Amino acid sequence: MRVEIIKCLQDNYSYILIDEASLNACIIDPGDSKPIINFIENNNIKLKYILNTHHHYDHVGGNSELKKRYRSEVIGFKDDRHRIPEIDIFVSDNEIWKKDNFEAKIYHTPGHTTGHIAFHFYKDNKIFTGDTLFSLGCGKVLEGTHEQMFASLNKFKELPLDTEIYCGHEYTLQNSNFCLAYDSTNSKLKEKIKIIKKKLSNNLTTVPTQLNDELECNIFLKAKSLESFSILRDLKDNF
Ligand SMILES: [Fe+2]
Repeated sequence: MRVEIIKCLQDNYSYILIDEASLNACIIDPGDSKPIINFIENNNIKLKYILNTHHHYDHVGGNSELKKRYRSEVIGFKDDRHRIPEIDIFVSDNEIWKKDNFEAKIYHTPGHTTGHIAFHFYKDNKIFTGDTLFSLGCGKVLEGTHEQMFASLNKFKELPLDTEIYCGHEYTLQNSNFCLAYDSTNSKLKEKIKIIKKKLSNNLTTVPTQLNDELECNIFLKAKSLESFSILRDLKDNF
């Protein structure tokens, strides 16, 4: 399975997953249909599935147009069936979603929204975390509680250390400033920031990131208690 990273809207990432043998493809979080259509037409792939991590417009904005054009199926969390446009398939926590050569475990990760999910393509060692886990950060707690968000992030810590993390936005540099401000002696973080800056100056993405790196550098994953996580999340909201 090959992953193509598509920049959408202001700073969103959509991901096209391509099975190279069949050229069947999934899109994760199409915030906008135009760049996706562009890629599909130029690469002659078949967009069969649209996977949404949550219902926010910048993650589902392309659903209707893409579904209409390619007759794709829309997959989302069962409890969000009334707010994910054009949803066809409802998935639940810990379910395995399997179609063609695609196989992902669903993790319900409430906090940013109550119905947020992540897609873990475990055979390919990749997880798509939407607006729950970012590189060096985590999503704002908008609908859920800090407790839920902390528990959601803890689910990711159990995955294999070399898991590649694909998140919903390019927020890495601004997140790194916050991590550095409250974890200023972390030499691994400083190393990672150098790499991030180099990538961005070469117009490259900072995703995917590795779980291993995030466990050492992401201050929200390093938080050992709900209390310290909550304090950090509040500080970040006003940073
Ligand atoms: Fe969001």
